[in-house]
Amino acid sequence: MSLPSVQLKQPNNVITCKAAVAWGPGKPLVIEEVDVSPPQPSEIRIKIVCTSLCRSDLTAWESQAIFPRIFGHEATGIVESVGQEVTEFTEGDHVLTVFTGECGTCRQCISGKSNLCQVLGLERRGVMHSDKGTRFAISGKPIYHYCAVSSFSEYTVVHSGCAVKINPIVPLDKVCLLSCGVAAGLGAAWNVADISKGSSVVIFGLGTVGLSVAQGAKLRGASAIIGVDTNPEKEEKAKAFGITEFINPNDSKEPVQQVIKHLTGGGADYAFECIGDTGMVTTALQACCDGWGLTVTLGVPKVKPEVSAHYGIFLTGRTLKGSLFGGWKPKSDLPSLVDMFIKKEIQVDEYITHNLSFKDINKAFDLMREGKCLRCVMHMEK
Ligand SMILES: NC(=O)c1ccc[n+]([C@@H]2O[C@H](COP(=O)([O-])OP(=O)(O)OC[C@H]3O[C@@H](n4cnc5c(N)ncnc54)[C@H](O)[C@@H]3O)[C@@H](O)[C@H]2O)c1
Ligand SMILES: [Zn+2]
Ligand SMILES: [Zn+2]
Repeated sequence: MSLPSVQLKQPNNVITCKAAVAWGPGKPLVIEEVDVSPPQPSEIRIKIVCTSLCRSDLTAWESQAIFPRIFGHEATGIVESVGQEVTEFTEGDHVLTVFTGECGTCRQCISGKSNLCQVLGLERRGVMHSDKGTRFAISGKPIYHYCAVSSFSEYTVVHSGCAVKINPIVPLDKVCLLSCGVAAGLGAAWNVADISKGSSVVIFGLGTVGLSVAQGAKLRGASAIIGVDTNPEKEEKAKAFGITEFINPNDSKEPVQQVIKHLTGGGADYAFECIGDTGMVTTALQACCDGWGLTVTLGVPKVKPEVSAHYGIFLTGRTLKGSLFGGWKPKSDLPSLVDMFIKKEIQVDEYITHNLSFKDINKAFDLMREGKCLRCVMHMEK
């Protein structure tokens, strides 16, 4: 008698849960009952514990055309079930979601030069990487994803390459910020710009991303960290993250790049655009010094994606670099960033200005639009 072959039990149940669905650009999200499919091969289904609002969610919600959709990409959760071929995760694992994954085998992943995975990189069409389908539906009609994460839902499905297992001792309501904003800023300062001790840094936009660049610059021993923001309320908070000089361009008679040139003796060593305004990329380039001035652009623009700059800026040795997720390869690098958080070597909690229950998610959008928050963390019902 032959023994039956052992078959691993795979999840095949649909979960019905609450999700914040965006039905159109700029329309308030509606908490709906959605059906979440079981994870497909190489995917995992996650019970979201906490998710915070990043400016990129808000920009996409206001300006993009893919609806209905579930936004959210900065999150932590617990693995509920795993699809076929998943060996790295098991039910109960604590994870960070990531909007740009790491397959570990593509040209970019093995290059040692880039974190822009060609297989699991930024997904822009509102679907899953693997089969270009969705895992959410209401009455059989698809609801689109955002960045193949969609954490504004009690349960979500992600590719196993778009989640990072983390030490279960870390508080999930804090480290969700390492899933995007704080990691993006620290990485831009350390991996992309590689700021050196004693240098001068100017940061345009003092939200969580800009102030994480500031933290990164401070930890590298930058001697001047100039912060530029049109919101006067940012000044006080910014000093706590290492900003040594605050400039509100609306209060200055001179163009801001001139003010920076005076303050830095001819231009900053490094400039970071953390607003999402390509006009400010031009200003940042102008605020850098000749010879080696480096501008790193992190912001995601809502309108006008083109950047303009006088070619002379580049002839005189300045450089412009883009930075997605701070150059971090999520699976290879994030666990060490989480360790730094455990050892209190980096600040993370300090960016959380509001804690809200998930049902109040529209309040988080209002607070960000009004410039009243850094990060709002939304907590799912237990
Ligand atoms: N590249 C990446 O990996 C990455 C990751 C996360 C976020 N982002 C992008 O980075 C940007 C910042 O994100 P955030 O979550 O910190 O946003 P945020 O809205 O919290 O911060 C933006 C800041 O810019 C300021 N600002 C707006 N217009 C300005 C102007 N004209 N001059 C000076 N300051 C101005 C605002 O007052 C605010 O303080 C966004 O564009 C976001 O989409 C990029
Ligand atoms: Zn890859
Ligand atoms: Zn983000």
